[in-house]
Amino acid sequence: MKQYIQRYVAADRVNHWIVAILFVILSLTGLAFFHPSFFFLSNVLGGPVWARILHPFLGIVMAVSFVFLARRVWHENFIKPVDIQWLKMIDEVINNGDGPDKLPIGKYNAGQKLMFWTMIGSVIALVLSGIVIWRSYFAEFFPISAIRFAMLVHMAAGFTGIVALIVHVYAAIWVKGTLRAMTRGSVEANWAKHHHPEWYKEQTGAK
Ligand code: HEM
Repeated sequence: MKQYIQRYVAADRVNHWIVAILFVILSLTGLAFFHPSFFFLSNVLGGPVWARILHPFLGIVMAVSFVFLARRVWHENFIKPVDIQWLKMIDEVINNGDGPDKLPIGKYNAGQKLMFWTMIGSVIALVLSGIVIWRSYFAEFFPISAIRFAMLVHMAAGFTGIVALIVHVYAAIWVKGTLRAMTRGSVEANWAKHHHPEWYKEQTGAK
């Protein structure tokens, strides 16, 4: 019989999916503002006018929700020597080799940790630059050069966040058994033993 270990409580998962859904909506509407060929994507918020009004407000809600999510997991994302070893084996990670799984990985591997810090950086940059370019409320307080610079920062951070998200979703699907951590809250004991042996030991007391 399969054994399962709890990885996330319901509050973690609700928090994660609020961030995820908002992040996707923001990415799609952001792309709609970025280039005419993506303009049709503004329909996800009911057309260009609503998309333009709602995008910054939803951005604030996403960022605040992200702060709560980050608070739940940040202490598991510190880079340790084992993560450097994992990164040195990146060829094996990509080619599905066994080496990286033999390392004493804790709750998250180096790839997940880098994704976490990339998201932290892009969300901070998106919020700060987003305030400067929020025409209806704040842009009038800044010189045009600052608005232009913030626009560039916003696009670069948005691009980085979208690429990080694609890698994150790809990895969640690619490493079989991971998705259920965020849907059901639990993972198979064998999944934990294989991919996150140190975390498995902490959870089960196994030697
Ligand atoms: C939209 C589709 C998304 C899917 C399918 C997805 C899936 C997942 C899954 C399965 C996990 C659990 C991984 C594990 O415990 O090993 C996870 C964790 C996590 N996700 Fe997502 N996610 C999505 C979007 C996002 C977004 C947009 C963000 C942030 C902006 C995000 C931030 C996180 C964080 C911080 C964790 C904890 C991992 C860590 O701290 O290193 N996710 N996600």
